[in-house]
Amino acid sequence: MSDSTTTSGGLDIEKIRADFPALHQDIHGHPLVYLDNAATTQKPWAVIDAVRSFYENDCSNVHRGVHALSQRATVAFESSRTAIKAFLGARDSREIIFTRSTTEAINLVAHSFVRPRLKPGDEVLITEMEHHSNIVPWQLLCDEKDAVLRVAPMGDDGKLILEQFEEMISERTRIVSVVHVSNALGTVNPVEEIIRLARDKGVPVLIDGAQAVPHMKVDVSALDCDFYAFSSHKAYGPTGIGALYGKRQHLLEMTPYQSGGDMILSVTFDRTTFNEPPHRFEAGTPNIEGAIGLAKALQYIETIGIDTVQAHERSLLAHATEAILEVPGVRLIGAPQHRAGALSFVMEGIHPHDIGTILDQEGVAVRAGHHCAQPIMQHYHLSATVRASFGLYNRVDEIDALIKGLHSVREVFG
Ligand code: ALA
Repeated sequence: MSDSTTTSGGLDIEKIRADFPALHQDIHGHPLVYLDNAATTQKPWAVIDAVRSFYENDCSNVHRGVHALSQRATVAFESSRTAIKAFLGARDSREIIFTRSTTEAINLVAHSFVRPRLKPGDEVLITEMEHHSNIVPWQLLCDEKDAVLRVAPMGDDGKLILEQFEEMISERTRIVSVVHVSNALGTVNPVEEIIRLARDKGVPVLIDGAQAVPHMKVDVSALDCDFYAFSSHKAYGPTGIGALYGKRQHLLEMTPYQSGGDMILSVTFDRTTFNEPPHRFEAGTPNIEGAIGLAKALQYIETIGIDTVQAHERSLLAHATEAILEVPGVRLIGAPQHRAGALSFVMEGIHPHDIGTILDQEGVAVRAGHHCAQPIMQHYHLSATVRASFGLYNRVDEIDALIKGLHSVREVFG
């Protein structure tokens, strides 16, 4: 691996890599090549230091104390909400709800927004390329309400068939919930168009942005989506925290998701009145240090510039797509024109888990499996794929290490 400072797409990669301590280690005698960023990203010192500093200096609960530490913690926590608002282009920080993850954000919308509106025979529209977290909550809700889960198909190229999607928006559709970027294929969905089509028919839209936020500019006001969910840990922030953007007029109408402390205005044994959004949806002590770390992570991305990150990752993906096809027996899964963050592939006659295990022996970390998107696997009649996924700190020579590893896989399996 080259020690020289590599610049690509305007990024000083070596300077960036120096910010991520976990990247600098050997795995089985080889330098770590971390290509599992769609599962979770590594964390920069800025995030690690912010979380540590909270525990060292400001550790206290939020919204509950008159003492100095609690006030500092509250200010830091609420400033993080404001930072997320700015990052997503929302108009009002009260439109940002802290959640545990994208999964929890989707469950919140299903429970508090869609559930009260869903009647027997009504429809929820998703796509074939959803992560399980954007399938199962809707399945459970539709079962409970005797409603219908409709699934817009994708083609073999891994692209949503937009004409069919449009036809499937009916007068019974109560929500469209669509992934922005597929975690398994890397397909970038035309969410602007999807939102416009749904809006024309008066249907609200939730976007699962878990795999988009780290890779491209997201502006919820420009998109005019009703809800947008993402997770911190895929965007260089801590695990166990994510956020839901929701239009203020929806949040004001929504019933609580979970109940307990901090989401109330008053409680008697006869009656409870609820706090305003976003606090109405944040029962219990939140992940304070997670929120602080997430804001730092977003600030880190902003310092580099999301457009610079996107240009760099595009060039990595272009190189990977070309190089991987030169390995005999490799087949890429899906061929969307717009791909971000990840690509999936299989090798003829070799199970993805074996590929992942041999790559690990060479220090290359990828994900092998169904990627929590089994319907995508079913579409291609596969049980699993190998997924290489990229982050802002990856280098071209790391893709070369992946390719070299794939040649080793072929040697092992003859
Ligand atoms: N959803 C994460 C992934 O795609 C865990 O790997």
